[in-house]
Amino acid sequence: MSRRSQFVPWVTAGRVTERQSNADDVVKATGWVFNNETGNELTLEQFVTTGDQEVPAYLNVFGLRDPANDTKTFVEIGCGIGRMTCALTREFGTVVACDLDPGFLQQCHETVARFGKPDRLQTLHVVDGNSLDLRANTADVAFSYITLQHCEPGDALDLSAEAVRVVKPGGKVVLNYRSKSRADTIILPLSTIMRSLFKLPGVGGFLSRQRVFARLGWQANRLQPDEIIGPLSPLLRDVEVWRNPKSRTSGYKASIREFEGINKNHYWIVATAR
Ligand SMILES: C[S@@+](CC[C@H](N)C(=O)[O-])C[C@H]1O[C@@H](n2cnc3c(N)ncnc32)[C@H](O)[C@@H]1O
Repeated sequence: MSRRSQFVPWVTAGRVTERQSNADDVVKATGWVFNNETGNELTLEQFVTTGDQEVPAYLNVFGLRDPANDTKTFVEIGCGIGRMTCALTREFGTVVACDLDPGFLQQCHETVARFGKPDRLQTLHVVDGNSLDLRANTADVAFSYITLQHCEPGDALDLSAEAVRVVKPGGKVVLNYRSKSRADTIILPLSTIMRSLFKLPGVGGFLSRQRVFARLGWQANRLQPDEIIGPLSPLLRDVEVWRNPKSRTSGYKASIREFEGINKNHYWIVATAR
């Protein structure tokens, strides 16, 4: 795998993950990596419960509920250790869980075996961080949550295009990004410095356990809806930008939709593939 700096914090977190003997220990040691909570009392079950609450909310709000879902294929880009994947396998006939880090994918299998439907799970290693080794027009939904903000801008744009490529005509693309804020003038330069520190021998493992340093190292872009939708617009219809009612993010010829459950620093692009 290429050693681009944006991969380093995730691959380091993946190595920390691999050193734990089971997924409960992963959550205790690195649970904050995925849901920003800390504490030795945190269990894998509690962690998955957060996904069990979010998944139905987003499926309902984005109009993805369908009695035929158990015959459909859902691609999840950036699955981590399977926090949302469990609930997704209970809903969709096939879930292709994709991640940059093979350690997370291995733990994702364990998590889904305990709390989801493992016979519906396939995993895919995103080796280069920007392409999905999947055939075009094969998925019903391509989805990504709290992942594209962590990719270099070019990778986030490429993965967004990959989501559109793998979805069948009429299928849905449902992608989450982080909006710009004033704090970014400090956060983004600090995150570049942090990623350089992650590369120093022996330092990365320590940093990946410190919530504030790890979170800084992950922040990689603040793409705006126009930048994403513009190049993809010939391939999409019914483009919506979903935001928190307190957010002002707006989108390129897209309908603005609001849902209080969306983090006020996030937005979603929800569209139908042509
Ligand atoms: C914050 S976690 C979110 C996991 C999951 N979506 C959730 O909500 O629990 C971000 C995930 O994105 C993965 N990731 C980061 N960059 C990626 C890339 N370029 N391609 C694929 N996965 C990536 C990380 O390895 C990590 O598992």
